[in-house]
Amino acid sequence: MTTIRFIREGVDIQCKPGENLRELIIKEKLQLYGLKGLLGNCGGVGQCSTCFVSIEGGTVNSLSPITAVEEEKLKTRPDNWRLACQTLIKLSVIILTKPQSPPPNLKDLKKLAENKKLPR
Ligand code: FES
Repeated sequence: MTTIRFIREGVDIQCKPGENLRELIIKEKLQLYGLKGLLGNCGGVGQCSTCFVSIEGGTVNSLSPITAVEEEKLKTRPDNWRLACQTLIKLSVIILTKPQSPPPNLKDLKKLAENKKLPR
């Protein structure tokens, strides 16, 4: 099992390697989408660019490689952003949902998340 630590929500979720990040977030009833995505999203086929997450901890091998769809859709976004629907989990990782509207206390939340040891 791997652990996905969600900074905004302050929770750790266990999952099996190979799980799709979008599906995991929805299954766990966490909020993946901002308003635009809530009003309409593509259902996970990589077309709407509303399922952004930022990767805040872990290693380069923690997630599946960036897909061609992501390369196109994330051209103008920070390097640590992914589309959750295109991302498979491999190892434990720290994630911020909805990085396009970060919480005002993000710095503190990140410190808290980084201070707890992340299982592999
Ligand atoms: S859900 Fe539409 S791009 Fe991910």
